[in-house]
Amino acid sequence: MIRHIALSALSAITAATLSLAPAPAHAAGGVGEITDFQFSFEGPFGSYDRAQLQRGLQVYTEVCAACHGLQYVPFRTLTQETGPALSPDAMRAYAADFEVQDRETGDWRPAGGPDHFPQSMMETAPDLSLMAKARIGFEGPYGLGINQFLRGMGGPEYIASFLLGYDGREEFQAGAMFYYNTAYDGWVSMAPVLWEDGVEYADGTPATVEQQAQDVAAFLMWAAEPHLTERKRAGFIGVVLLALLASLLYLTNKRLWAPVKQKAKEES
Ligand code: HEC
Repeated sequence: MIRHIALSALSAITAATLSLAPAPAHAAGGVGEITDFQFSFEGPFGSYDRAQLQRGLQVYTEVCAACHGLQYVPFRTLTQETGPALSPDAMRAYAADFEVQDRETGDWRPAGGPDHFPQSMMETAPDLSLMAKARIGFEGPYGLGINQFLRGMGGPEYIASFLLGYDGREEFQAGAMFYYNTAYDGWVSMAPVLWEDGVEYADGTPATVEQQAQDVAAFLMWAAEPHLTERKRAGFIGVVLLALLASLLYLTNKRLWAPVKQKAKEES
């Protein structure tokens, strides 16, 4: 196995450097056509759009939750200031619509802030908590991460493209329906789930299919990476401090060597 990986890595590198082999049409992982959406959280100063996250939560709740779970996300995080920023009351009211089994008594009760979203209702539907990070598959040629680095394309683009990627082809196989998806670049067992005005947004935004896809993708990005905004801020402060330190060092260095340079000048 390891030898196999090493060999294919080696051949990929040789092919990349010598350009002997033609570039593959798709990145590994069967990833197809991904649209480069512009999300508010891209770029060094990007942050989540609170209204968008709230709409995405609504799409998740009304559409996706029928099958997909979010079992690693605690309800209380919905109050996060840089996230969906629900009020504590709104969060508790939201959580109370879900039932959880109490760890101590074993009884079913309405969920509260510390509880997590449920697991997937449908066995074959993957949990979506980390999906936005799991699906950064189209990293560009040879998985170099170029697309994500240069164009900010990642998991949310994949999820939105996946939801919009149905071209209408359906096939009945081995007792189940399959649908062709151009983002997945293959047949999937998840049917198209988004429709024009399929949800009625609380904030009045027109619920086009594209809008819903992007909103729920943004929400799932937040679910997978809730501290993105804080990390970007910390990174920026880090860069500023480093720049400051670098200029101080430069000036100190000049100062220290000034007498030596002066002397050298006088002697020559
Ligand atoms: C009727 C059930 C159902 C609903 C509703 C549903 N899904 Fe799925 N979803 C599935 C199943 C089943 C799979 C596994 C498909 C497969 O691997 O063939 C899946 C797979 C996925 C995948 C993984 C695709 C991949 O790359 O493997 C994503 C992402 C996804 N769903 C997102 C969503 C989102 C977002 C919503 C809500 C807008 C949603 N789904 C609604 C059943 C559902």
